[in-house]
Amino acid sequence: GIRRKDCNVLVVGLDNSGKSTVLNHFKSPDCKDSNVVPTIGFSVEKFKYKNVHFTAWDMSGQGRYRNLWEHYYSDCQGVIYVVDSADKLRLAVAKDELDILLKHPEIKSRSLPILVLANKMDLRDALSPVKIVQGLGLDQDLVKDKPWQIAATNALTGDGLAAGADWLSDQIQ
Ligand code: GTP
Repeated sequence: GIRRKDCNVLVVGLDNSGKSTVLNHFKSPDCKDSNVVPTIGFSVEKFKYKNVHFTAWDMSGQGRYRNLWEHYYSDCQGVIYVVDSADKLRLAVAKDELDILLKHPEIKSRSLPILVLANKMDLRDALSPVKIVQGLGLDQDLVKDKPWQIAATNALTGDGLAAGADWLSDQIQ
């Protein structure tokens, strides 16, 4: 797991990608400090697991709140980007949102590790991680200076999450 000092990890992605299901795996059963902080129409979920502060929100349809969530960029040390592997129709939307994130000055200027979860890999028509890499353009410019990793996951069972989290924690150390 992630050790030593506290760090901040953002968990983002489109609605229905599986963010809450992923987060539930990192929450201990007695986790009391999980809270949802609603602002005007935009809500952020925050909780702490061991020494990792997770901050999560839903990007889709919320572009008008972008200036609110951008405040979280400057002090994060890692990003988990959750994608629904079976949502072929919205893979292009997921790419657009990821691009906007990667182009933000606070993200662009730093060698921030990006963990992409190709979630819902259990679904019959899920795209392979290779296809998700292509669809998101992870082989292209915007991420060439950043450590990134893709992990196929099933957030319902937790399959693949530990490997992804281990990679991210190694990057943050
Ligand atoms: P919003 O709250 O809308 O932002 O969605 P979210 O990204 O938090 O997704 P959520 O965790 O609520 O999951 C959306 C739906 O997908 C739920 O019905 C989950 O049970 C389901 N789901 C999440 N992960 C997986 C997975 O790996 N496989 C399958 N088959 N279903 C999943």
